[in-house]
Amino acid sequence: MSEPKKLYIKTYGCQMNVYDSERMVEALGGSGYVETQTPDDADMILLNTCHIREKAAEKVYSELGRYKTLKSEKPDLKIGVAGCVAQAEGEEIMRRQPMVDLVVGPQSYHRLPELEAKAGTGSRAIDTDFPEEDKFEHLKRRPKAKRAPAAFLTVQEGCDKFCAFCVVPYTRGAEVSRPAERVLQEARDLVERGVREITLLGQNVNAYHGAGADGSEWTLARLIWELDAIDGLERIRFTTSHPNDMQDDLIEAHGTCKKLMPYLHLPVQSGSDKILKRMNRSHDAQSYLKLIERIRAARPDILISGDFIVGFPEETDQDFEDTMNLIREVQYGQAFSFKYSTRPGTPAAERDQLPEDVKTERLHRLQALITEQQRAIQDSMVGREVSVLFERAGRFEEQMVGKSEYLHAVHVTDPTIQIGDIRRVRITQSNPNSLDGQALN
Ligand code: 5AD
Ligand code: SF4
Repeated sequence: MSEPKKLYIKTYGCQMNVYDSERMVEALGGSGYVETQTPDDADMILLNTCHIREKAAEKVYSELGRYKTLKSEKPDLKIGVAGCVAQAEGEEIMRRQPMVDLVVGPQSYHRLPELEAKAGTGSRAIDTDFPEEDKFEHLKRRPKAKRAPAAFLTVQEGCDKFCAFCVVPYTRGAEVSRPAERVLQEARDLVERGVREITLLGQNVNAYHGAGADGSEWTLARLIWELDAIDGLERIRFTTSHPNDMQDDLIEAHGTCKKLMPYLHLPVQSGSDKILKRMNRSHDAQSYLKLIERIRAARPDILISGDFIVGFPEETDQDFEDTMNLIREVQYGQAFSFKYSTRPGTPAAERDQLPEDVKTERLHRLQALITEQQRAIQDSMVGREVSVLFERAGRFEEQMVGKSEYLHAVHVTDPTIQIGDIRRVRITQSNPNSLDGQALN
C-alpha cells in the first residue's frame, strides 16, 4: 500500500468554515489524504478563507507567499484556496498567484476530489459555481470515527438580506436550507460517534425552512424539536440569527425545549434607527429591544450575545450614543464588535467614510462597555449551579475544561470527570475568560 498523502488545511473565519474544513478533510480522505498539523510535510495545502474581515484577500496573498519556498523545494505540492475569498476573487487569485493549483468556492466542495485530481495533471482547476445540489450530501463521511462531544452541523447557507456592509450574499450566495431528514440523519450519525451537543450553523440559521419528512417546510423550531427527540443528544444550540426571522415558535422553544441551551447570538449591529436603515437591516432599535424582552419572558436566564459595527458611513456621535444606550438596555453576556471597513462590491463601500481615529475611539468605548457587562454576568455565576459538558483536559493535572449551558468556559479539577461527561457544577470563581467550579455529582 502506498503512503497516505498529507493535507494541511488552514481555516479562517466562522464556525461554518470549521465545519466545511472537516468535510473537506473527509472528502479528500477518499483521494488518499490524511490531515497533518504542519505545512512542512504536506502534499497539499488548502487555505479555507474568510472574506468578512478587512484586507481578507491581502492576507491570503501574504499567507500564500509563505509557501513559496516549500513549493519550489517540492514541485508536486498542491496549493488550493477555498472559502469566501476564493469565491469572491477566484480568477484574480489564479492570475496573481501562479503557484495556486486549485480554487474552490464554498458551494463546490463536493467537487474537490475531482479538482484535486485535475490539479495533479499539471493543469489548474477552478470552481466557483453555485450548483443546485446539496454539497454535503455528496461529501463522503468517514466510517463511524469517534468524535469530540460538541459538534457543528450546517443546516442553512447563504443570505438574501443584503445588509449594506456585508459580502455574505455575494460569497455564500442565496439562502438555501438543507432538507430536514438529511440534517437529522447527520445528527444521529454524530450522536452515534459520541457527540452530545450540536450547534446548528447557518449565516441566517433562524431563516431555516428546509423540506420536512411530511413534505411541508419546517421551521428551525420544528427541526429543533425533532432533534430533541434523539436519544443521547443532550444539548442543542444554533447560530447566527437575524432579528427579523425570530419567529414565535422559536422563542417559545427557548422556554419549553430542555435541550435547547439558554444562549442566543442575535446581532443588532447598531442602536441608531438612521444607521440601521442605511445598513438595510429592516428592523429598528425598538423592535429589537421588544424582541429581546419577549425572548427573556420565555427564558429569563438566557444569555444574549451580539455583533456591532461602529463607524458605519454617516454615523454621528448621537448615532453612536444610541448604540451605547441599546447595549445598556440589553446587557450582553458576550459580543463581537468591529470598525466598519469597506468590502468591494457592497453598497456602503461607495459612501463617504468616517476618519479612522473616530472609529477607533468609538470601538474602544463600546468594547469597554461590553467587557464590563460580560464580566458582570460572568461574575454573577459565582455560587450558582450550572451544568457543564466537558470537552477536553485542562493545562493542570486532573483539570478538565467544559462549557456551561451559557457557553462560559468552566474549569474543574476532579479525577472522576471524563471527556463527554455532563455534570452539575457549583461555580466558585470568575476569572477574566473562564469560571472555576466544583463537580456536585
Ligand atoms: N465591516 C465591519 N464588520 C463587518 N461585519 C460584516 N461585514 C463587516 C464590514 N464590512 C461584521 C458584522 C457581522 C459579523 C459577522 O461581522 O457585525 O455580524
Ligand atoms: Fe450579512 Fe448577516 Fe446581513 Fe446576511 S443578515 S447580509 S449574513 S450581516
